[in-house]
Amino acid sequence: MKFQGSENYIATQDLMLAVNAALTLKRPLLVKGEPGTGKTMLAEEVAAALGMPLLQWHIKSTTKAQQGLYEYDAVSRLRDSQLSGAEEAARVRDIRNYIVKGVLWQAFTADEPVALLIDEIDKADIEFPNDLLRELDRMEFYVYETRELIRAKHRPLVVITSNNEKELPDAFLRRCFFHYIKFPDADTMQKIVDVHFPGLKKDLLAAAMKTFFDVSKLPGLKKKPSTSELLDWLKLLVAEDIPLEALQSQDEKVAVPPLVGALLKNEQDLSLFEKLVFMQRHNR
Ligand SMILES: Nc1ncnc2c1ncn2[C@@H]1O[C@H](COP(=O)(O)OP(=O)(O)OP(=O)(O)O)[C@@H](O)[C@H]1O
Ligand SMILES: [Mg+2]
Repeated sequence: MKFQGSENYIATQDLMLAVNAALTLKRPLLVKGEPGTGKTMLAEEVAAALGMPLLQWHIKSTTKAQQGLYEYDAVSRLRDSQLSGAEEAARVRDIRNYIVKGVLWQAFTADEPVALLIDEIDKADIEFPNDLLRELDRMEFYVYETRELIRAKHRPLVVITSNNEKELPDAFLRRCFFHYIKFPDADTMQKIVDVHFPGLKKDLLAAAMKTFFDVSKLPGLKKKPSTSELLDWLKLLVAEDIPLEALQSQDEKVAVPPLVGALLKNEQDLSLFEKLVFMQRHNR
């Protein structure tokens, strides 16, 4: 099984290498990168390309590792125990009826190999990755309530994404294969745009790409626009039927592009950009 990119997803050579290295090592693939550089989509595309079902676990600040394994639903059990029917009584006697399986359990017991996405692991607290060390390493865990060991039938392909909001513990990192998705170069970005907008007019696209790279190269930006911002912006340019002239200034100087709110997401960046435009206009 090898990943070679897909119709909808442009994977650079080093990204494909990383995915295949994780497959070979049978270790989780840890993907980091700026927001909107295609980390979540990578997991979806790898799963689709390898023909595996994808189980997704989206992490929040309140997510606990245990929730990925299983949870014991004591409230339902108590409620059933207060009902008088024979059926409920039988149900209550077996604790297994109140064990709710988490995504890891589902991934471990699936009949075919699956892909498992643990999305935005850096949102959880620092204990979260540490609590999953053994599960991700040995691919097994123990259910204390029923005294059973759940062991993976097939090792799932685990993809973990992080936006780098928190450092991950060393012991966790040791178990992963790491890949950083760099900001796409002009060539890669062009390919990504072609996948999303196959019919876009060449001159409009060229002007838009130039503007985008002008904006993103601006030193001191708080939030540099990434792939998904460019795609949003292009979508708007098409929807609003923005003419080519609006993107090109005759004197080759930078101008504030139309619908700039799709690219720059805070007032500091916007005023930085406007200042640059102003200075250029007055230096001529
Ligand atoms: N290499 C790529 N090929 C095709 N489309 C891409 C690529 N990279 C990003 N995109 C586009 O950018 C959008 C955002 O990607 P995605 O949601 O995977 O980003 P992310 O890295 O998970 O961001 P976040 O950290 O904010 O969750 C996708 O919906 C997709 O349309
Ligand atoms: Mg994401």
